[in-house]
Amino acid sequence: IPGMGIPFYTGLEYYKSLIPVRNEDSNKGDCGKLFIIAGSRGMTGAAYLSCMGALRSGSGLVTLGVPESQQQIMAVKLTEAMTVPLPEVEESGTISLDALGEIKRRLNKSDVCVFGPGLSDNDDIPKLIDSLLSGSTDFVIDADGLNCISRDMDILRKHKNRKSCQVVITPHPGEMARLCGLSIEAVQNDRVGTARDFAEEFGVTVVLKGKDTVIANSDGGVHINNSGNAGMATGGTGDVLSGVIGSLMGQGLNGYDAAVLGVFLHGAAGDLARRDKGEHGLIATDLVEMLPEAFRLVN
Ligand code: APR
Ligand code: MG
Repeated sequence: IPGMGIPFYTGLEYYKSLIPVRNEDSNKGDCGKLFIIAGSRGMTGAAYLSCMGALRSGSGLVTLGVPESQQQIMAVKLTEAMTVPLPEVEESGTISLDALGEIKRRLNKSDVCVFGPGLSDNDDIPKLIDSLLSGSTDFVIDADGLNCISRDMDILRKHKNRKSCQVVITPHPGEMARLCGLSIEAVQNDRVGTARDFAEEFGVTVVLKGKDTVIANSDGGVHINNSGNAGMATGGTGDVLSGVIGSLMGQGLNGYDAAVLGVFLHGAAGDLARRDKGEHGLIATDLVEMLPEAFRLVN
């Protein structure tokens, strides 16, 4: 786009057509209620970034579920999001299976759940996600949520049989390799094929991240994103994306459209941030700050 210091994007009209309509008389209940399960001791930034990505993408209400020892920290970091303390495994400061009841109560009141950024890993988390996927709330699963699933692929196989909710997964190539039991090289050598096959086999939308992020759904739909830059190769940028996609699903987009639009906006925010900060100075928080401007490109 001349004079804006950002690349010319193809398909802007298509992205425009996906933007959720905000009616004049909208109230926050119409704009998506998100429950984000993220964070653990030492990983509070991931939870923060996912929540902020969602808030800057139009969510009506964002609630963060976080290990109880981290809740007060998150309450200070987050102004617009609510925080819920969840039972935890004390030694690691990670959520425990005892959190299941509270999470289910929260999900009953939510449109979408983002699961995984900064959760770390323990033996309870695969059991938690297995149980939660039998409900009707849609899911975005990222990061440690995916690492937990890759320990037991039956979790996603059962989801495919039930299909009671939509699931979007957002792996980077390393997480995708773990999920598929392939090397990172094999994933990268056939990014489209890997994403498409996985989406079909497990009935999910796959967002295979990295340069030219691939989005694939279980009906064979594939989209390759053309926004974003190498300045985004810095800790926390992926956490922002999980919130953006979850937010768009909460506003009524299906998982695939939310992923296509969300990945574009997230990359465009990265391009706008590079204009101001350069590739080396860019940090994940800059993406959050640039999301409003990215939305205005297509609105
Ligand atoms: N060009 C375009 N986009 C890029 C590039 C690039 N060269 N490099 C990275 N990105 C984008 C990716 O497409 C993705 O959207 O930046 C984001 C990076 O996301 P992640 O790889 O998940 O990285 P991060 O946010 O740091 O993850 C934090 O979660 O997934 C775990 O192991 C990960 O511990 C790490 C944590
Ligand atoms: Mg990540």
